[in-house]
Amino acid sequence: MSAVGVLGVGVVGGAVAAGLGRAGLEVRLYDRYRGLGRPEDLGDCPLVFLCVPTPPCADGKADLTEVLRAAGELARILAPGSVVAVKSTVTPGTCDSLGRAFPHLRFASVPEFLIAARPEESFVRADRVVIGAPSSEVAETVARVMRRAVPGAPLLFLRPVEAELVKLCSNAMLSAKVALANELAQVCAAFGAEWARVQAAVGLDRRIGPDHLTVTPARGFGGFCLPKDLDAIVAASRAAGYEPRVLEEIASFNRRIRSLARAVGNGDGNGNGSGLRQSAALSTGEA
Ligand SMILES: NC(=O)c1ccc[n+]([C@@H]2O[C@H](COP(=O)([O-])OP(=O)(O)OC[C@H]3O[C@@H](n4cnc5c(N)ncnc54)[C@H](O)[C@@H]3O)[C@@H](O)[C@H]2O)c1
Repeated sequence: MSAVGVLGVGVVGGAVAAGLGRAGLEVRLYDRYRGLGRPEDLGDCPLVFLCVPTPPCADGKADLTEVLRAAGELARILAPGSVVAVKSTVTPGTCDSLGRAFPHLRFASVPEFLIAARPEESFVRADRVVIGAPSSEVAETVARVMRRAVPGAPLLFLRPVEAELVKLCSNAMLSAKVALANELAQVCAAFGAEWARVQAAVGLDRRIGPDHLTVTPARGFGGFCLPKDLDAIVAASRAAGYEPRVLEEIASFNRRIRSLARAVGNGDGNGNGSGLRQSAALSTGEA
């Protein structure tokens, strides 16, 4: 099999490169800001994974500057028909737009779901591999590599825009679960009950599952990806003509409880106690 390129060797690109390498594939790397390789090093790769950052713009949309810059560089050096597998989390419709802007390349969306705390392990143990390709030929080019790098994971074949939405919808579901757990913890506190005890029983329902139910001292969801991707799906949805009121409320509820937690000193660490009751009171303007 020919060498596979990885462009952008940060958390995601590093995990992809390690996974491909462990699967016995020859990997070529290029990272513009880490002084790693040159674009030309990827020139003879029929498949390149694009893993550059997409930080939030002021309006919540994903900033696609580096995606466009990287795609432009690949358009200059790759042979016609080469496949660019976009792992960056992008606005729905981006791969189709890139395909129109650079018609001699073929763009697939292959979103990444790894866990930032253990990127390499979670990359190879993915629950599923999602391949959003413009044709079955492109899908098979990506699938051949992903079957080797992520053995055992089911492969799902979608349209590019659907694959892009899988990533945003998955993170929106996780955000909603954390937000709802925080809301329910406040309901429990209003009854003098401990969410941590209720949570364990709630999470044993297989339809609900135990993950993302813990209420941390900081409340809500933090980190980089969940807040950014929630704002991104809200902004993208509005731009597409749909006002996503539930998602908007999750985002503002999360901001509210996190700043209230900071204001009251993060509670007792159990998702209960005086901090939680105080933050509930503050959120209703009673404090
Ligand atoms: N970190 C995560 O847990 C995670 C999980 C899933 C998806 N994602 C998404 O994957 C994408 C990458 O995230 P990350 O965490 O790996 O970012 P990162 O900042 O860790 O790494 C990005 C790398 O790309 C390089 N780079 C930037 N622009 C470039 C360019 N034009 N050409 C070549 N290299 C370039 C940077 O120097 C950097 O090393 C983002 O869209 C992110 O939302 C991240």
